Amino acid sequence: MNANFGKRLEGKVAIVTGGGGAMGGAQCRLFAAHGAAVCVADFRMDAAEAVVAEIGEYGGKAFGFELDVRDEAVWADCVKATEERFGPVSILCNNAGANFRVSFDDQSLDMWNIIMETGLTGAFLGIKAVVPSMRKAGGGAILNIGSLASIRPGGGSPGYAAQKMGMVGLNRAAAASYAKENIRSVIISPGHVDTPFIRGNNEYSPNDESTSIDNPENLGRRVASTPMGRMMMPEDLANAFLFAASDEASGITGSMITVDGGAAL
Ligand SMILES: NC(=O)c1ccc[n+]([C@@H]2O[C@H](COP(=O)([O-])OP(=O)(O)OC[C@H]3O[C@@H](n4cnc5c(N)ncnc54)[C@H](O)[C@@H]3O)[C@@H](O)[C@H]2O)c1
Repeated sequence: MNANFGKRLEGKVAIVTGGGGAMGGAQCRLFAAHGAAVCVADFRMDAAEAVVAEIGEYGGKAFGFELDVRDEAVWADCVKATEERFGPVSILCNNAGANFRVSFDDQSLDMWNIIMETGLTGAFLGIKAVVPSMRKAGGGAILNIGSLASIRPGGGSPGYAAQKMGMVGLNRAAAASYAKENIRSVIISPGHVDTPFIRGNNEYSPNDESTSIDNPENLGRRVASTPMGRMMMPEDLANAFLFAASDEASGITGSMITVDGGAAL
């Protein structure tokens, strides 16, 4: 029986990267509603602060932190600031990611480096920075965002394929390394999610007419390749993150949870 009367993360402290984004923001809001204190970490501070303000409106605990996940020194500052406010960190969500949707021939070394450094090195640095804090907390949950590309990377962006397959290895390495210390690691792989990552034109994830789901043809292709016949929404993912972060998932580590409407089938 859960004694927290529906609040599943009471007393937990979370750092959520890409917290100003669509999926990261949905996790922050849901975690705070379930009693967690949340560090909304993003390199776009305006976006992070908007999420903090929403959480504040319903009395949740959150603060924004300007974090570029590629910067090891700033990771140390982020964990320190979170501990000072809320105590030891027990949940880390690695959402920050980048993509350049071009072919192998057209992908430059710069593009490859931004994808790998943001998605994979950023998660590696985050795990290293947060684990000492999780030890103080007596355990924790590391939640890594995967993709359909973590299951069957196709012939698109090679950096993205390598980053998302790499995340499977990083997740398992973290799970195996820290299981004895009650620190779990889970990879959650979305299918096609309606977010600015595939709709907008951000510097970390550019889209144009040929890739954006603002183009009905691109949207239709993604919906058609999803057996459930709809796009996933950020909240679909946030609910899986909530479960994986909670004590109800206490036996789950090293695993992948897909939230894709069947798209990987
Ligand atoms: N939307 C999809 O269909 C989909 C599918 C599978 C996986 N994903 C993964 O989800 C993540 C993107 O989340 P979203 O779809 O909610 O998009 P989003 O664009 O709304 O959010 C991404 C967030 O990451 C932040 N970010 C980017 N680079 C950063 C950096 N170096 N340091 C700190 N923050 C940084 C951005 O500011 C943004 O707030 C990526 O890891 C992506 O690979 C998305």
